[in-house]
Amino acid sequence: MKKRILALSLSAAMALSLAACGGGGEGTQPSGSQETGGGGGGAATSEVANKDKPLVWFNRQPSNSSTGELDMAALSFNENTYYVGFDANQGAELQGTMIVDYIKAHAAEIDRNGDGIIGYVLAVGDIGHNDSIARTRGVRAALGTGVEKDGVIDSAPVGTNADGSSTIVKDGSIEVDGTTYTIRELASQEMKNSAGATWDAATAGNAIGTWASSFGDQIDIVASNNDGMGMSMFNSWSKANGVPTFGYDANSDAVAAIAEGYGGTISQHADVQAYLTLRVLRNALDGVDIDMGIGTADEAGNVLTDDVFYYDEATRSYYALNVAVTADNYQEFLDSTVTYEPVSKQLDATAHPTKNVWLNIYNSADNFLGSTYQPLLQKYDDLLNLNVEYIAGDGQTESNITNRLGNPSAYDAFAINMVKTDNAASYTGILGQ
Ligand code: BGC
Ligand code: CA
Repeated sequence: MKKRILALSLSAAMALSLAACGGGGEGTQPSGSQETGGGGGGAATSEVANKDKPLVWFNRQPSNSSTGELDMAALSFNENTYYVGFDANQGAELQGTMIVDYIKAHAAEIDRNGDGIIGYVLAVGDIGHNDSIARTRGVRAALGTGVEKDGVIDSAPVGTNADGSSTIVKDGSIEVDGTTYTIRELASQEMKNSAGATWDAATAGNAIGTWASSFGDQIDIVASNNDGMGMSMFNSWSKANGVPTFGYDANSDAVAAIAEGYGGTISQHADVQAYLTLRVLRNALDGVDIDMGIGTADEAGNVLTDDVFYYDEATRSYYALNVAVTADNYQEFLDSTVTYEPVSKQLDATAHPTKNVWLNIYNSADNFLGSTYQPLLQKYDDLLNLNVEYIAGDGQTESNITNRLGNPSAYDAFAINMVKTDNAASYTGILGQ
């Protein structure tokens, strides 16, 4: 009890001093802007050991990038460790179905060169990222182009497959209004730049140029594992050529582009994920049931229903559910940075005093995290009374980020978005010291 009062008054003092320095700690300023850098400074509001502080992994689930096997040591680092992401398989299936539905609805004009083959190209985000793998599989499964390997659809990029002879994919077929079309994955590649950054939009923009010059009007559809790459391809080629392009994430710019011919995208309910990311930390810091304000309404009335998320206890993972965004409904998704209404009520600052959170984004250039997820986090951190320091990585090396976790004692909780899903230990190693 005594400790609690002390914690309360300390945080009240801190809130004051933050207010005095015009604080809030928002924004993407580099680390060191708040703590005095390694020298103790101690802005954490309690004396909990770093290894016992709440930790949430988000967007990149600790896992083996070759096998996909979850890294349970990281997911159960301490009793207040969680993962927040979205249901990759459900979303991938939706993405595939969205593309098939589009083909069926546009059968008359879809085959641009009239050769009976519907050709598509696919931008792969990161061959070792479970979300990217699921999307590649989802598209191939729906289009009938997937080939099973070890019991699952092979998600490797084909390079090019002009004549349909690839062994990684096969030709699919689809019957629309009595006509049977062959569906062929003409090309696919991982969008990784020379410095190692994955999901790289600029690389996708270049790739579509190369593909367009070799395949020209054989390309009837462009599919992408995310909107960042999808929009890069749309803007540099597909828009001008009237080729429907499908992405994932429902970033605002991609949703707006649906009015101009972008085929569609999938919302991974970032508004729910960003909330969950900070809410699990809030609950752990408050010492309340982890379901508070999630499946159970909190005193302000924040609550989520099970049509937008689920929790998997065994993997300590929260997964948001996905929604397809197409010409039929895109008007409702034009601003991807609006908080989810059922969980947008301000928490009382006395009962939920300000706490300091260290949070990193693996790559400052990632369109989804930068244009959708972080703006949402920045709204929820206010609602949840969390003072979050945002650290932006370069998307290439873990050390670029971990170097800025030099003084974990200055924070009450941590939210981590790894560069590579295999690298959880680079962070837990620091917290465990
Ligand atoms: C998003 C991608 C993003 C990736 C980063 C995925 O969930 O859909 O757009 O690049 O996460 O980890
Ligand atoms: Ca064709």
